[in-house]
Amino acid sequence: MPDIAIVPAPRELVVDDGRWITADPATDAVRTVVDNLGETEYRIDVTADGARLSAGSEDALRWADTTYRQLLDAAEPAEDGKVSVPAVRIADAPRFAWRGMMLDVSRHFMPKEFVLKVVDVVALHRMNMLHLHLTDDQGWRVEIEAYPKLTEVGAWRPESMVGRMTHEQAEFDYDGTPHGGFYTKDDLREIVAYAAERGITVVPEIDLPGHMQAAIAAYPELGNHPDQQLGVRKIWGISEDVLNVNDATVEFVRTVLREVLEIFPGPYIHLGGDECPARQWRESEAAQQRQAELGLTEAGQLQGWFTAQVASVLTEQGRRLVGWDEMVETDCPKDAVIMAWRSAQRGEIAAKAGHDVVMTPCESVYFDYYQGDPETEPLAIGGFIPLDKVYDFEVVPAGLTDEEQARIVGAQCNVWTEYMEGPEQVGYMLLPRLSAFSERAWGSPKTPYDEFVSRLRPHLRRIEALGLNYRPLDQ
Ligand code: ACM
Repeated sequence: MPDIAIVPAPRELVVDDGRWITADPATDAVRTVVDNLGETEYRIDVTADGARLSAGSEDALRWADTTYRQLLDAAEPAEDGKVSVPAVRIADAPRFAWRGMMLDVSRHFMPKEFVLKVVDVVALHRMNMLHLHLTDDQGWRVEIEAYPKLTEVGAWRPESMVGRMTHEQAEFDYDGTPHGGFYTKDDLREIVAYAAERGITVVPEIDLPGHMQAAIAAYPELGNHPDQQLGVRKIWGISEDVLNVNDATVEFVRTVLREVLEIFPGPYIHLGGDECPARQWRESEAAQQRQAELGLTEAGQLQGWFTAQVASVLTEQGRRLVGWDEMVETDCPKDAVIMAWRSAQRGEIAAKAGHDVVMTPCESVYFDYYQGDPETEPLAIGGFIPLDKVYDFEVVPAGLTDEEQARIVGAQCNVWTEYMEGPEQVGYMLLPRLSAFSERAWGSPKTPYDEFVSRLRPHLRRIEALGLNYRPLDQ
């Protein structure tokens, strides 16, 4: 049996006994898009006649190629410069349409070159969505021409807290080191194009109406205390400073979103919606007046109203709103795609409410959680999600009818970067947990964990070849 290590494993892989010898397997392979396969299906047949890659679409042909290149890693040198390639038949298609990863580039700015490498590693795992968390309290990372201070002011903080944040803490230590950075529109267009060439859609997130302290620091009139000058947030956690619900703020956000839509041509735009405290709205005369005008009974309901006001920019251009699962509680549009993060059960609730759902539950696929003993691991936010737990992740929550199950459109792993200062730390937390995640998102057959690890060992060399850091398996 040849040593085949394909990650994520194809749904069906049959290895023939013999071996096929060819002069140059890479150029001898025939690649075709055919109409007798579904759009997401591909086949690879390696026989004595050669290698044939066929697929139902260009995207699926790209997955075929990625798989085939991994198969070629099992080739062995033969005489006269030829290689001996295992003869196989692969029939494959992803189980889920959304196979994503989120990178938080707000808490710590990540250089463009690294984001491109992340695209490479996402493509290596036949995933198709890269969600960029571009804005948060601690930094605004996307150039907006109409409002230059978003990046002139909002992309920089004078220093960051050190140590682990808890909400009970009254005082913090700081590192005294300025941190910041942002992507120009050209940077982002380059990332989008690079990703598109690899079959990956970039989903931008502008997190609102909470997690907006960096924007309020740049334009105090967006906040509920416009007479106070806030700074870009230096500590982690949830800021009480949220957008106000004035008409001018709605217009501001719409203008921002129009520029964002110009940069990102994909069908999905993420408008956050998580962790938005309503305290300032309860205490603000203007917000209370807005609440009364709208006949709302609770200040928290202003979030749904605000989101609907700004989301119309997306609808006008045929784009689809994506939001965190809190949105389900804020009377959001029914066609919003919901990312279930607080628990798998939140996904169940969203699916029952009729939403398409991307499963990204923190208990299974939050890669900012520890993956080993906190005593010996780098500082992390908490939790415990070792590699085998990711491998065991069940994408579809229990308790759904067939119709509701069909609304689980996929899965996503999230990398929040409060405790990751740069590419090296992100690589360590992401890899190889991403590899385990990709098996579940693709729908690879669930094999014993040891079998997965035996494929993962050689697969780590592919990750190394991309120049990415990872956590060694035997650590
Ligand atoms: C989240 O983790 N606040 C979506």
